[in-house]
Amino acid sequence: MIKKKEIIKEYNKKIELLNKYNKHYYDKNNPLVDDIKFDHLKIEVQNLEKKYIFLKDRLSPTISVGYKPSKNFEKSKHRVPMLSLSNAFDYEDLQNYEKKIFNFLNITKKNDIEYSVEPKIDGISASLTYKEGKLISGVSRGDGKEGELITENLKTIADIPQTIVSKSFPKDIDIRGEVFIANKDFEYLKDKFANPRNAASGSLRQKNPKETKKIPLRFIAYTFGYFDKLSLKKQSEFIQHLKNWGFKVSKFNKVISGIDNLVINHKNFEDQRHDLEYDIDGLVYKINDFEIQKRLGAVGNAPRWAIAHKFSSVSSFSKILNIDIQVGRTGALTPVAKIKPVNIGGVVVSNATLHNEDEISRKDIRVGDTVKIERAGDVIPHVISVDTSKRLNNSKKYYFPQKCPSCGSKVIKEYNNLTKKYDAVKRCTSEGFECEKMAIEKIKHFISKDALNIDGLGKKVVEKFWDLKFIRLPHDIFKLDYNKIEKLDGWGKLSVSNLKYAIEKSRKITLEKLIFSLGIRHIGQENAKIISQHIKNFENFSKISSGFNFENFLNIDGIGETQINSLKKFFSNQTNLIVINGIKKYMILKKSEKTVSGKFKNKTFMFTGKLEGISRAEAKSLIEKNSGKILSSVNSKLNYLIIGDKPTTRKINQAIDLKIKVIKQEDFKKMLN
Ligand code: IVH
Repeated sequence: MIKKKEIIKEYNKKIELLNKYNKHYYDKNNPLVDDIKFDHLKIEVQNLEKKYIFLKDRLSPTISVGYKPSKNFEKSKHRVPMLSLSNAFDYEDLQNYEKKIFNFLNITKKNDIEYSVEPKIDGISASLTYKEGKLISGVSRGDGKEGELITENLKTIADIPQTIVSKSFPKDIDIRGEVFIANKDFEYLKDKFANPRNAASGSLRQKNPKETKKIPLRFIAYTFGYFDKLSLKKQSEFIQHLKNWGFKVSKFNKVISGIDNLVINHKNFEDQRHDLEYDIDGLVYKINDFEIQKRLGAVGNAPRWAIAHKFSSVSSFSKILNIDIQVGRTGALTPVAKIKPVNIGGVVVSNATLHNEDEISRKDIRVGDTVKIERAGDVIPHVISVDTSKRLNNSKKYYFPQKCPSCGSKVIKEYNNLTKKYDAVKRCTSEGFECEKMAIEKIKHFISKDALNIDGLGKKVVEKFWDLKFIRLPHDIFKLDYNKIEKLDGWGKLSVSNLKYAIEKSRKITLEKLIFSLGIRHIGQENAKIISQHIKNFENFSKISSGFNFENFLNIDGIGETQINSLKKFFSNQTNLIVINGIKKYMILKKSEKTVSGKFKNKTFMFTGKLEGISRAEAKSLIEKNSGKILSSVNSKLNYLIIGDKPTTRKINQAIDLKIKVIKQEDFKKMLN
């Protein structure tokens, strides 16, 4: 019989080897053995662990998590997406926010909405799944849809309860909150990380949970994802329950009504933020009433029911070394000040946006000037003012370029029909891929998270592939020569095979994402969705040409003149047509993901007249949530015409002629149940 000692020795040897391979693979990006050998060794270790119970070590490399999340952590889909927040910076932003939600909810009386006000801790969010009171798994936010399974690391955090016995705790729930590090604990990590947030993120993603445990990470809970039975009415009640269940919640959480009060509270908080134990970058305002939250829903990847009110940030002085003009995907010319690197609140800043030509002239910003630079959260730092007392005698006024610095085309300021003013932004007039900088940005957009979402093909890689002439148009991504890439510095068999896999995976895409990925000006995610529902397949989309009858599009709710003009311009460009046809060959369209109950599946609706107690926007969103579609003209495809107060008689008559069901708002309510 083999002795226990010998087994342990053999096991340890294998683990040591596995750790060595792991380190080279993840840490040094330089694998020592191929995948087959690696997997074989891993299986050997697992088999030993299975056979000899005494070997089961919690920190075995077969169960411990990796160095780098994108490569090494198992992915896990969130049962309910983890959304992000839209930002407000001042009183006006908040006013606009409230106006929008009041319109949506059809509320005229102000100040009666209650907000749960919570500090926005600057850490890393995580979602913890509890079943029958037991912590089952913990996942990072990732892209909001799926994150990395970092259960073992999260379990090392003392603030995270692993068992909850309370009767009121739901049988199955995702508790969400922020993992962060207190400023005093950051002190001894200062040399390793730029700021506490990076330190928290780095520690949380240690390969070895033992390493995570060494860092005093903390956790504050603030929301939930999926849940099975939770009969609470308000966010503030939920926070109270979190506390009772054993979670840490912020002691600064409050309930406040009215923007004026929100702003007063914000000001008080901002003044004392530096005395707090940890970094916060603003306050989060959540509509307290869950029923109203549900009505408001989300738009894009942010809920309508919450907003982050950011702090006005930290600032510092530096000198402008140069002014660069960046050309964006849509041709916008953005002046960027290259400044002498300066540490602003823990982040080294070497670029600051100057916004546009008008901003430069208004502030008379010049190369060589000493300027005050402000950084607010994750927003690009910007120049606030010039210290003219430090200006040199020979300094010269800055003149904005009259031609695109990338392709030499004319630059213009567009006239905005809505505001009846010229835009502040100057734009390169070339369309399509004639302008090099625009083309690179378009390709970056094509592969970005919300578009094709190709892992391993980041912005820097796109730039490199462009320089090497590997890509010129989006579909060149599908024709890459992997043998050539493998020979490049920093690339190897493994990274190439990962890239190949990610590109292959990206070919399966929904029509709305594909339309969005083209980066057509004014066609964002929402509009791409609306168009995809109307146009149905990519074949139809690709057939659009300059002779296409765009009038049809005018009937689509949400699409206006601006979008149509942009589409016309897009389709009149030859290169864009080449791109569409090029892409077409490689894409495999899949159905849109729907998280809806489907009550109105294949049903179409239209409204006429003013609805009572509900805004059009909300009524539409209710229909869409139930898989129904909205039409904006009466035609044979319409199933229901819903009539409110003072409807258009012509529409009702047309509907009757076409034998379309004309229903009152009450009937619609009944249908919705
Ligand atoms: S609620 C559904 N509450 O902010 C909205 N988020 O920009 C998002 N955060 O990813 C979750 N404090 O990392 C919420 N009290 C708080 C928060 C908070 C910080 C972070 C969180 C989230 C990000 C959104």
